[in-house]
Amino acid sequence: MIKKLVLNNFLSHKDTCIRFDPGITVFVGHNGSGKSSIIDSITFALFNEHTRKNNKNLITKGIDQTLSEESGSFVIMDFSVGSIDYKIQRQIDKAGQLLSAKLEILENKSLDNSTKKNSAVYRQVISGERKQLGESVIKEIESILKMDYQKLQIASIIQQGEINRIIDSPPKEFKELLNNMIGLYRLDISFAFMHSTIDEFRKLLREKTGGYDDNHIDILITKVKENKNKIITSKESLQKIYSDLSEKTTLLDNIEKEIEFLEPKVSKIQEIKSLENVLINYFKEKSIALKSNIEKTKKIIVESTNAFIILKDKDEVLITLQMIQSEKEELNKKLNTLEGEIGKLTGLTECAKKIQIKDGKCPVCNSKINMINDMFDIFHIKKELDKKQKEKKLIVSESIKLNTEDLEFRKKEKNIISAERLLLSYEISTDKDLSNLRTNLMSLDKDYQTIFKLNFNHFNDTNLVVYKVDEYSSNLVNDIINIKKDIGNINLEDLKQKKSLKNKLMVEFVDIQNQKAILEKNISDLEQEIVDFEKLLSELYSASGFIYELEKIRSMVFNRDGIVSSSLRTWALNLITIKSSEYINTFNVGISKISLIEKPREIKILCYGKRGEIDLISLSGGEKVAVSLALRMAIAYLMGSSKIDFIVLDEPTSNLDEERRRSFVKIISDVFSKGVGPLSQIIIITHDEEIFENSEIEQIYKFSMSDKGSIVTPI
Ligand SMILES: Nc1ncnc2c1ncn2[C@@H]1O[C@H](COP(=O)(O)OP(=O)(O)O)[C@@H](O)[C@H]1O
Ligand SMILES: [Mg+2]
Repeated sequence: MIKKLVLNNFLSHKDTCIRFDPGITVFVGHNGSGKSSIIDSITFALFNEHTRKNNKNLITKGIDQTLSEESGSFVIMDFSVGSIDYKIQRQIDKAGQLLSAKLEILENKSLDNSTKKNSAVYRQVISGERKQLGESVIKEIESILKMDYQKLQIASIIQQGEINRIIDSPPKEFKELLNNMIGLYRLDISFAFMHSTIDEFRKLLREKTGGYDDNHIDILITKVKENKNKIITSKESLQKIYSDLSEKTTLLDNIEKEIEFLEPKVSKIQEIKSLENVLINYFKEKSIALKSNIEKTKKIIVESTNAFIILKDKDEVLITLQMIQSEKEELNKKLNTLEGEIGKLTGLTECAKKIQIKDGKCPVCNSKINMINDMFDIFHIKKELDKKQKEKKLIVSESIKLNTEDLEFRKKEKNIISAERLLLSYEISTDKDLSNLRTNLMSLDKDYQTIFKLNFNHFNDTNLVVYKVDEYSSNLVNDIINIKKDIGNINLEDLKQKKSLKNKLMVEFVDIQNQKAILEKNISDLEQEIVDFEKLLSELYSASGFIYELEKIRSMVFNRDGIVSSSLRTWALNLITIKSSEYINTFNVGISKISLIEKPREIKILCYGKRGEIDLISLSGGEKVAVSLALRMAIAYLMGSSKIDFIVLDEPTSNLDEERRRSFVKIISDVFSKGVGPLSQIIIITHDEEIFENSEIEQIYKFSMSDKGSIVTPI
């Protein structure tokens, strides 16, 4: 029950204080005089809620400027719930910001009246709206009243035109009205919200699973099945590949063994080839060496033979040379003698020329003479000189001859010395030596011929023995023969084929290996995929279970026509039926029972009088108001349970015709002044000044507007 209201600077109320007593309180006044503002002050105080959009609009404007706009507003309300008295006050600043909210409780209620009056001691219950800190006056009020703002609006505030609407709305709209009143519209919100919640959940699911939600379960199951089938086929292929591989491995092993056996032999063939080359080169070199040796020996033989021929005349030449020397000396002696004689004779000739017989007389004695002595006879001397000259000439020519001969023999002597030197250099001293040399030449020649006859350009490998010419070649040939024996018959073509077969097999092997790896990877991928899918599936299964539950909850709980909703409505309808019947009986209008019947899309209101069911249309205006009021009170009871014992009716008579208005006033005055059921307080707001004029109602407040704001005066 509301006991006192103080409005300060609140809407059109600069400073208003109203006291309330149990029973009916009526506010009368012209439109705009500030009556409905009282409702706003109540909801503002309790819940910080009102019909004026925002708190800033609550602050008084346009009246007594100096004061109003500078300070904020506050409302103080004293009220009781059950036996407890509360005081609530809420204050906002000029910007509409909450300055304080305080809920206090009156203590010492048990004390006797006189003490209580003098010392009303209030203890603070809670202060402020700091919900995050758990401090909230609103929350505290909600828990005391057991309802929130919306519920209070339905339970305790009957809006303008509502009474009329209840009875005049078509059954379909009435159902909607009722749904809204009992809060079923919230189910619609939840119903829609739950849909988006489920959608959101699916979206989250898809984000988490990479695009899958519960709708994909069948697809995933199919995929798992497909994968399993694929694995089976792949494994079959893999089996074939395994046997192929083992077959190829055996083949390769065998071929490799064969090649391993043949390979060293092939290298021995190379060895033979190189030995043959060594042999051929040896023969080539040897042939050249032999040839030059032969030439040299031949030359030595020729030269030595010549030297021997020269040396045959050696003794003779030496003796001759001696003889020539002595002869030369003889001749020289003779010549010298002769030259002396010739000189003497030449001198004598000169003398003889001067001893001439002149006129038969001797030149010396002048005696007559016939002839000169022979000794002085020139002719005689000349004859002698000639003779001597001739002799000299002979000796000179003989000497020349001898010189020539000397020269000739000197030359021979020189040749002999050369020949001797040559032989010395060849170390040949005897004929035997020479004949040895000849024998040697013959043997060289023979060797040369033997090699010459060999065809070492085209190596004859079938008859190797012919190449056994000397020790060295014999050894080589023996080596070759031994290696050949060692190798035996080897077919190079065969080896080549084996090698190419091996290569082919290797390629195939690698190919199969690759196929194997691909298949194995494939299988493991598929298996992994199955594991992933199954994990996903188990997640999706539980998600789907969850979604199923959510859907179930949604359709059962939140669906307007679901079990919860309809049973809630059925329960509400029953309660309303019972309560409204109770009320209508007290109204004394001849209606004994009201019944609400739910149809799929509508709720029908049935009324019963003494003569049974009465059609709504045939009800009188007054009866209609009574039914409406009864229904509205029942709904208020339903919503307010037992905590709220006051009800505010804002302009209940507007839209009512005269008959209905009279019925309304009568019912209110007759019935509610005594209090109906749990209700102990009714506040009626009306601009209809005269309707309660002659009633017995005690508390009537007159609202009027002045230049100082709303003025409230009790009548
Ligand atoms: N912030 C405000 N300051 C001063 N007056 C206001 C304010 N808000 C509304 N009003 C006035 O209050 C009156 C409306 O009050 P209301 O309680 O709804 O009247 P009624 O008596 O018709 O129910 C109007 O005259 C309106 O101009
Ligand atoms: Mg009003």
